[in-house]
Amino acid sequence: MAIVCHCSVVRERTIVKAIRRGAGTLEEVKAACGAGTSCGGCHDALCRLIDEHAGCASAVSVSGSFAAQ
Ligand code: FES
Repeated sequence: MAIVCHCSVVRERTIVKAIRRGAGTLEEVKAACGAGTSCGGCHDALCRLIDEHAGCASAVSVSGSFAAQ
């Protein structure tokens, strides 16, 4: 699988695993696996993955909320 976050060298598989274990916001994904913690260039890709696998309300932490699709 592809590397999504090149700064922290985090693969898509690792990010999806974090999302499935409960990381439902960008901030939670960052805390869970380290992706997105440097330049921020992968944030759109991270939000897309959150959207696909959990629902991404916004780029800021909104714990427990789910965006309307
Ligand atoms: S590519 Fe993910 S923080 Fe830079």
